Amino acid sequence: MTTLSTFGIDAISTYVPKFTLNLDKLAKRRNVNPEKYRIGLGLNRMSVAGPQEDSLTLAVEAAQSLFKRYDIDKESVGMLIVGTETPIDAAKPVASYVHRMIELSPWCRTFDTKHACYGGTAALRLAANWCATPAGRGRKALVIMTDIARYDTESPGEPTQGAGAVAMIVSENPSILALDDVPEAVYTYENMDFWRPLYRSKAIVEGQQSISSYLHGLDQTYMQYKEGSGYDWDDYSYLLFHVPFPKMAYKGFKRLFQKEVMRVNGHGTEELNEEFERKVEPGLWANTEIGNIYTGSLYLSLAALLVRAQKDAAGQRIGLYSYGSGSCAEFFSGVVQNDPSAWIGRVGLNEGLARRVSLSYEEYLRFRKENELLSQIDSYSPDVVTAWNRHQSVAFCGIRNHERIYGLREGISARKSLYEEKDPYESPIYVVK
Ligand code: HMG
Repeated sequence: MTTLSTFGIDAISTYVPKFTLNLDKLAKRRNVNPEKYRIGLGLNRMSVAGPQEDSLTLAVEAAQSLFKRYDIDKESVGMLIVGTETPIDAAKPVASYVHRMIELSPWCRTFDTKHACYGGTAALRLAANWCATPAGRGRKALVIMTDIARYDTESPGEPTQGAGAVAMIVSENPSILALDDVPEAVYTYENMDFWRPLYRSKAIVEGQQSISSYLHGLDQTYMQYKEGSGYDWDDYSYLLFHVPFPKMAYKGFKRLFQKEVMRVNGHGTEELNEEFERKVEPGLWANTEIGNIYTGSLYLSLAALLVRAQKDAAGQRIGLYSYGSGSCAEFFSGVVQNDPSAWIGRVGLNEGLARRVSLSYEEYLRFRKENELLSQIDSYSPDVVTAWNRHQSVAFCGIRNHERIYGLREGISARKSLYEEKDPYESPIYVVK
């Protein structure tokens, strides 16, 4: 008997910055009732990128964490895709820097994908399709979703900010999530719900329009997927959503529940909330603590589900809804594989959250400002190296002659060695001994 191959996620790991802001502090400064953020949006804290972090450093940290926790032969990686909407350059992909820093084989295709938050799913689906073709030749793809979400201070989007990255290996016969091989359900609808012009570091958003567009995409893709796959509501043990803020996942779930369950058998709000707790909440706890990480947000939720459900996730079908403003939406599903040792203790989420340091409101503002300044000046500026911490293996140090300068740690080192480096200007990436 021949067994059909499956394709999907073989390994997954996460990285969250060391710094966090408790949203009660922000609410106080914004003159807002803290319950609005906690209950109205479902958020407790946001992750804040340090002055030396950007989407590239977050991606490298997530990849390092992946290679540390799983036994992966780097030579077997034939494709690296970085999904990001907050890249560091308009032409050169984040993927090419990452490729060098984590020392992948040169026989590897590297590129970034962009479509707001959908960029991560585009990368995953492309990678899985590549693995399934003769071009993949049994090799694996490394897919990284990385972003720093930024809105203007004092704007409604501010409390939904976040920062982080998720790295995954996509391969044949995956150990974690085998994607269901059924007709895809993708929906594109061009609109101006959220965008970031090239001259801005902060996104602009039409909040209510973005919520409607998210729900419209969900309606379209869920029904399309249902028709194509034949899977019904009860086939999904868990449902994961793109999470710009956790209450949005509730709105999405409610929308589907009303159509699929309430209208059919007349269930009410009590059943809605019970089923939400069972099917969605196990995947939401990390988003509540981290905020929106754009491309990685849905996959952070997957990581959180694996951590929370542990062995109970094994064998369960998960429905996933991905939405990217602008807009593109996709609903798809997969089955968690049977051996929980593939994810238990390997996702890195608890460790990442446990080492976080809480910022004051003033520090949050200062970090934002320093981070932006570091990305604008055309001079190498070691004076702004303020936050290298022992969990960080790569740091963005400034710009010189339009080149971004990165310090890459070799083993454990003191910050002082950064300054002792003889000629750090030779290459934009230099090793801190
Ligand atoms: P807002 O105008 O400040 O908030 O912005 P609101 O007045 O709509 O209130 C929010 C919720 O808090 C409401 O609940 C209030 O009732 C509740 P809802 O009615 O929606 O269920 N509330 C309270 N609850 C308890 N106690 C209180 C209290 N006061 C009020 N005292 C908005 C909210 C989401 C628009 C804003 O945060 C925003 O603009 N966020 C950014 C955009 C966004 O996240 N859009 C989501 C869909 S688009 C998407 O997901 C794509 C995205 O990730 C980007 C990409 O694709 O790259 C964003």
